[in-house]
Amino acid sequence: MSRNLVKISGVNSYVPKGILTNHDLEKMVDTNDEWIVSRTGIKQRHILKEEGKATSDMATEAVKGLLTKTNTSPDEIDLVICATITPDMKFPDTANTLCDKVGINNAFGFDINAACSGFLYALTTGAKFVESGSHKKVIVVGIDMMSSIIDYTDRTTCIIFGDGGGAVLLEANDEPYGILDSYFKGDGSGRKHLHLKAGGSAMPTSEQTVKDNLHYVYQEGKHVFKRAVSGMVDTIKVVLERNNLSNDDIDWLVPHQANMRIINSVAGMLDFPEEKVIINIQNYGNTTAGTLPLCLADFEHQFKKGDKILLTAFGGGFTWGTTLLTWAY
Ligand code: COA
Repeated sequence: MSRNLVKISGVNSYVPKGILTNHDLEKMVDTNDEWIVSRTGIKQRHILKEEGKATSDMATEAVKGLLTKTNTSPDEIDLVICATITPDMKFPDTANTLCDKVGINNAFGFDINAACSGFLYALTTGAKFVESGSHKKVIVVGIDMMSSIIDYTDRTTCIIFGDGGGAVLLEANDEPYGILDSYFKGDGSGRKHLHLKAGGSAMPTSEQTVKDNLHYVYQEGKHVFKRAVSGMVDTIKVVLERNNLSNDDIDWLVPHQANMRIINSVAGMLDFPEEKVIINIQNYGNTTAGTLPLCLADFEHQFKKGDKILLTAFGGGFTWGTTLLTWAY
């Protein structure tokens, strides 16, 4: 391969200490552990409960650990991209807040809002900066504090989401391992099925929007479910085909952790054997932009240099897509 690839040279994750189990939820809404496990695969989620803490504080922990793990000084970082739909504030961006908290002083930063596909969009964007030669070391974060936008009286959403995420370091690579291809799609008409109604310019915050509970995730679960399966399957097929690969050539499928049944449907439709499919949804729920870096961090010890990995995601927007990479260490 002649092209210089951009590699992931390290990964680290962070989830807050607080845990919300299905049994805890049984006491809050009309639900039960058996329903949640059989419909979603989720057993617990981590929730950030410390007063005054926000998404950037979780990101700070993930990035500090990443710098230590990769023996990188904060001053070496040129760019930080943070994928999140739960920024600390509407502005400024969480990426710059996080740089300030970590002590990354030579970088610029910005956020990407693409819901559950955010980490993949950010990963590919970050890789382009390295590929162009303009930036040497780029940190990409995928992280969300979903508990800040979830209505804990709505049993159809509060059982699904959790807080947490992770970060990766991107660098140029002399060896032929790294990010090989990405295929992304979007469909803005999907916004009616999954969104947060109030607080933006379309419906600014008012006494009425608060009274009407409009500052929480609104989701039509069944519709999202179907679109998630077809979106991930279709983009995986395109990436495999245009790289002349079959699923036998892939060592790991890393799907966005939205729902165990979505993951099983995607893997089943593509004939991926169970042992190649990365699953940790039982421990974290859906952390939106956080699920993919959480998967990479949890399974890092099982990846071998040269392993071919497919990452796939679907989320609000609608946004979706698939990235193919080879593990570089
Ligand atoms: N506990 C018990 N019952 C519940 C429940 C809960 N937490 N949530 C919903 N129900 C009930 C519904 O009220 C409904 O009852 P009814 O038949 O009396 O009307 C019944 O269970 C079936 O609800 P339905 O919405 O059809 O369930 P589902 O099988 O589609 O599962 C989701 C619901 C949300 C788990 C599922 O649709 C899903 O995961 N969708 C994708 C969500 C997602 O991934 N979003 C992230 C973006 S990628």
